[in-house]
Amino acid sequence: MQQPLTPFPLSGYFGSKYFCDREKETEKLLENCRHGLSTTIISIRRMGKTGLIKHVAGQLPEKWAFIYLDILYTENKPELLDSLATAVINAIPEKGRAGKKVWQFVKGLRPLLSFDLLTGAPQVSFNVRNKEAEQNITDVLRLLENHPQPVVIAIDEFQQILNYPENQVDAWLRSIIQQLNNVTFIYSGSQQHLMNDLFTTPSRPFYRSTQLLKLKSIPRESYRNFITKHFKNHKRSISEDVADDMLEWTKLHTYYVQLLCSRVFMTNETTITRNIWHEEARKILVEQEPVFLGYREMLPKKQWQLLKAIATESTLNSPTANDFINNYQLGSSSSVLRALEGLLDKELAYYDFDEEGNKYYSPYDVLFERWVQKNKKQ
Ligand SMILES: Nc1ncnc2c1ncn2[C@@H]1O[C@H](COP(=O)(O)OP(=O)(O)OP(=O)(O)O)[C@@H](O)[C@H]1O
Ligand SMILES: [Mg+2]
Repeated sequence: MQQPLTPFPLSGYFGSKYFCDREKETEKLLENCRHGLSTTIISIRRMGKTGLIKHVAGQLPEKWAFIYLDILYTENKPELLDSLATAVINAIPEKGRAGKKVWQFVKGLRPLLSFDLLTGAPQVSFNVRNKEAEQNITDVLRLLENHPQPVVIAIDEFQQILNYPENQVDAWLRSIIQQLNNVTFIYSGSQQHLMNDLFTTPSRPFYRSTQLLKLKSIPRESYRNFITKHFKNHKRSISEDVADDMLEWTKLHTYYVQLLCSRVFMTNETTITRNIWHEEARKILVEQEPVFLGYREMLPKKQWQLLKAIATESTLNSPTANDFINNYQLGSSSSVLRALEGLLDKELAYYDFDEEGNKYYSPYDVLFERWVQKNKKQ
């Protein structure tokens, strides 16, 4: 496997050595796959859903077929077919009896063949209409149903099917998937409210068809050990306290932890002190400033004020509480709720539930939060 540039990669999966914890979640997913139970992974963005899928893939029995497709860029059923067929031929080698059948089938559909410019992996696309695409998708899945070994299909950014122009894509897909016993699915998506809508609304076809796996932060202790271990492996040191401070600053949000750690790692300093990470954090915020000022340009004034207020609070339980509204001079509670709706829609803020089950709101971007807090203090 390829080596990452730092032990804290920001994209791609580089094997379990560079993957922190998620042991329980991995075990749960593997167990579900073994029992033919499909799983839906839900979390806020950049928490590690895609990473977890790749990690699980590496631990499935070797002979199983694991098929991964990210459907974010698909816009209709024919493109879903392209994405599925491409994933299938990349996952199942042509050599061998089972592979031959699959490849033969795909070739029989007269695909346009191309190669990914970066990875060189083959890609297929078909010039077909909707009805044909539907039939072909059904046929590919049936073929996998007859695969001699169990098959796991992970569909990332699954909520994208809601943007297809065709009606009730979920009902159609569910009706095919329902008939499969040899194929297990892992669904994952970064738009939490749409994923919730698809899987937890009783009137929707996928309701209760999968087990939900809510991905939270990696426990502080695990991440701290992971960070100190990797510095040590490179004959460098970082104290537990300093690692904890960095985890605090990044709110244990996986992507931001990785970002700060990789930047601190790249300083090449032998001993990581508070000053070193503070300086890296400061630089990151300076780099991001144009993005944050862009928010100010883009947002209606009320939304901007509310976003800054939520960022100052870090987590906010009651957006309509008098104290909060008065403190930040946000006007009426109804206008706060409207602004909040706007921020949730734009994915600049999200809500979740704490350990006690209390709902809270937070800004999506940890760096934005830290930027607002820093500027407040000055
Ligand atoms: N357990 C882990 N240990 C170390 N790094 C991780 C871990 N999980 C994820 N990462 C890293 O954190 C970042 C975000 O992870 P990932 O892309 O998997 O999140 P995601 O939830 O799929 O995000 P999105 O919602 O935007 O699709 C990536 O840089 C990834 O490499
Ligand atoms: Mg992802």
